[in-house]
Amino acid sequence: MVDTGEIKNLPVHVAIIMDGNGRWARQRNLPRVEGHLVGMESVREIVTTTRKLHIPYLTLYAFSKENWKRPKEEVKRLLELLEIYLEKELPLMMEKGIRLNILGDIKDFPKRVQRRLQETMDKTKKNRELCLNIALSYSARKEILQAATAIAEEYKRGAIKRINERVFEKYLWTKGIPDPDLLIRTSGEMRISNFLLWQLAYTELYITDTLWPDFREEAYIEALKEYSRRDRRFGSIKEA
Ligand code: FPP
Repeated sequence: MVDTGEIKNLPVHVAIIMDGNGRWARQRNLPRVEGHLVGMESVREIVTTTRKLHIPYLTLYAFSKENWKRPKEEVKRLLELLEIYLEKELPLMMEKGIRLNILGDIKDFPKRVQRRLQETMDKTKKNRELCLNIALSYSARKEILQAATAIAEEYKRGAIKRINERVFEKYLWTKGIPDPDLLIRTSGEMRISNFLLWQLAYTELYITDTLWPDFREEAYIEALKEYSRRDRRFGSIKEA
């Protein structure tokens, strides 16, 4: 049972920068991939808890555009883990009503992985309990640039008359998804790392020293409690 007694208001959308797998492994003299393997267990636990709490949107930053520059062997292992994850977790996604959505450039991935991603998205697309976004080969600047390019083209051919925030958001990969209320970053780094630059404008930030493989339900609940104590003002002044 999750004890959410103290949580007055839960976020609608939680985004997470899962960081610290490498450090977790190094602290134990293990290869980096061991950190990613245990990190996968954290993914499962956090997804399950999110679903249990009826939080409708969860976005996980699993692989950035910049991550392609990591050693070939590590990239290869991460891709293998992604495939294993998709295969292993499909039954859970179906059972728990979880819809998978990918944010990022799927076409950067090997064809087999692309097919697996597409298949999982297709099979889960009618699920309505939790929308699980996984950011893969993701770059927020790239997302904004592709939106700007598409808008410029539509504007030129007269398909849109006016460009405002509402219109712009329709061209982002997160179209139709509310902005995150809470961003969690594990392992203590004070950076956004090219993640959801547009969408995080008013998001509450929560940074914990806990490394991702150690970030489990208890640590997550702590973050949610802290969020529920925050006073969100969206740039306005506090009411008397
Ligand atoms: C950051 O740790 C983690 C990653 C770049 C990969 C995240 C992947 C997983 C949690 C496993 C697979 C997940 C899915 C959804 C299939 P780091 O390697 O940057 O750690 P460090 O900063 O300590 O080196």
